[in-house]
Amino acid sequence: MPQTGLTTPAGSKAKVEALFDSLALEYVREREQQFSFVSQKRIVMELLRSHRGRLLEVGCGPGVMLPDLLAMGFEVHGIDVSAEMIRRAEQRMASHALASRCRLGVGDVERLRYSDASFDAVLSMGVLEYLPDYAIALREISRVLKPGGHAVLTVPNQASAYHLARSGYLTCRRVLGASRGSGVASPRLPWALDRALASAGLRKADSRACNFIFFPLKELHERASEALNRALTPLSGWAFAPFLGAQYIVKAQKTVWASAPYG
Ligand SMILES: C[S@@+](CC[C@H](N)C(=O)[O-])C[C@H]1O[C@@H](n2cnc3c(N)ncnc32)[C@H](O)[C@@H]1O
Repeated sequence: MPQTGLTTPAGSKAKVEALFDSLALEYVREREQQFSFVSQKRIVMELLRSHRGRLLEVGCGPGVMLPDLLAMGFEVHGIDVSAEMIRRAEQRMASHALASRCRLGVGDVERLRYSDASFDAVLSMGVLEYLPDYAIALREISRVLKPGGHAVLTVPNQASAYHLARSGYLTCRRVLGASRGSGVASPRLPWALDRALASAGLRKADSRACNFIFFPLKELHERASEALNRALTPLSGWAFAPFLGAQYIVKAQKTVWASAPYG
């Protein structure tokens, strides 16, 4: 198919695939133990609570959300760019009682292999920050959603105290020659994501922030950082939370048709 949009260059995507192939086992062992993930998951489930039908999880990793999504009554399709993540997700689901309502496969959020308007909900946790430009991914998510369907997306929050302080520190190190390059993930500004959602035909319906961590406390004293995070978590719906929570969670509803990025 000829492409008209600017998808992520193959080299960057291959780097992300290799990174997550190598991290798959760690995700299986640790993801559900991390308070940062548990608090994010709680909010995501709350935002999806009133919805049913077919749900697509893009970047499903080793499938930590799948059992809960199935238990909520969704028919779930999970895709991930990492074949190793999908293999782990398949292992998790192999003996699950609701496995017949779950389909898994390797896939790219920028080229979804689904027809227009085929899902009632799309979930994407921690994926958009791995794309240099998330506009195509948002249009694809919008395209596969039925009109009136909902997307719930999470990204690291560039405007949070943690990411501002950490990126300032890393920039200083680079300027002083103490480190080279940057990581493969880029935190995003909540209001820029909200605007991009609107351009993709997705109207913001709700948002939260979570993961109240601070630099360099998190790096220096993980246990103290987690205790503070737990104590501040009840603030996640407050107006100032987007400046403190290192993770931004947004729910948006498809209002109009978005045409495919390539034809
Ligand atoms: C930070 S992990 C999060 C995994 C899972 N959503 C979770 O919260 O446990 C990001 C996941 O997104 C996947 N991913 C990155 N880029 C992707 C893309 N273009 N299409 C689909 N999945 C992608 C990675 O392979 C990885 O499994």
